[in-house]
Amino acid sequence: MALSVVDLRSDTVTRPSEEMRKVMSAAEVGDDVLGDDPTIQRLEKYMMDLLGKEAAVFVPSGTMANILGLLSQARPGDEVILDRNCHIFNYEAGGAAALGGLQLHPLDGPDGFLSVDAMRAAVRPINIHHPRTSLVTVENTHNRGGGRVYPYDGLKEIYRVAGENGLRVHLDGARLANAVVASGVPFEKYGKIADSINICFSKGLGAPVGSIFISDGQTVEKARFWRKRLGGGMRQAGILAEACLYAMENNIDRLAEDHARASRIGTLIQSMPGLRLLFPIDTNIIIFRVDDEAIDFDGFCADLESAGIMVLAFGSRSIRMVTHLDISDADIERVEEVMSGMTGVHGSGKSGK
Ligand SMILES: Cc1ncc(COP(=O)(O)O)c(C=O)c1O
Repeated sequence: MALSVVDLRSDTVTRPSEEMRKVMSAAEVGDDVLGDDPTIQRLEKYMMDLLGKEAAVFVPSGTMANILGLLSQARPGDEVILDRNCHIFNYEAGGAAALGGLQLHPLDGPDGFLSVDAMRAAVRPINIHHPRTSLVTVENTHNRGGGRVYPYDGLKEIYRVAGENGLRVHLDGARLANAVVASGVPFEKYGKIADSINICFSKGLGAPVGSIFISDGQTVEKARFWRKRLGGGMRQAGILAEACLYAMENNIDRLAEDHARASRIGTLIQSMPGLRLLFPIDTNIIIFRVDDEAIDFDGFCADLESAGIMVLAFGSRSIRMVTHLDISDADIERVEEVMSGMTGVHGSGKSGK
């Protein structure tokens, strides 16, 4: 019998459920580039109302929603302040520089949280020698920060200080739904501490495709132009928007289950000698380091893989695991069983050197 796989590489691996596929097949559609897709319009309106913003535009990916945030709010040669570990700086193929001619100014902060003082100090004085600082981006929850939830008051302060300095704030809320569930802070309050927001439907929410860019009317108008220029204008994509609406209506509260399962894995890791959890577990992401040099890291990863547990190596001796819609309690039991039996961790088996 083939080994069943527990895929903890990312929450992007979820597959649309039967019910989601059913509503997709019945979606009303039209040509969205011509403004005719009623389901996309319904999704955009739903998200605008939820976040308390004027306008929204449906896009294929979180990467596109983020680049629209940059391109519609900063001009070539402008500087954007962000944290060194954020997704925009690390994993979006240099789009800010290649497509927007933007200069990124990364700051160091704990768990991906920007320090307000460091941000204030990074704003360039207006002077012919300097680039113009025009935008700050924040990420919540924070992917490389182990899924940590940004403290709301911290975001509020960043927004206030950014405003005082004439800067806009873009929130990369690819996993904002996880932050909402974990913190109890509603979507609408997050809408009040950012000028523009990206939210992804194809991560923990379980839709196959889609993200949304939400902001004021003028900014979204510019974003629509950029979406078209980048080739992101879609036609009868209401079939996808229906899946996203289904995800918003059915898959948010259950994120608490993903968080509880991640926490179980976190507890297991804390109990294992030689392994160290790098961040407290706020949501569905677990990042840990194989600290004990006596454990062969590649062997450790290979042992997990051969037991059918798929993870992502994150840096030279760290591993990321992400819980999601397609991970059950039985899968977590399997992870517990496999990891606690991993001889390499105890220094005597095939993973050990
Ligand atoms: C925090 C964050 N922002 C943006 C993205 C980009 O989303 P996409 O893969 O849909 O382009 C990701 C993807 O994992 C992410 O984790």
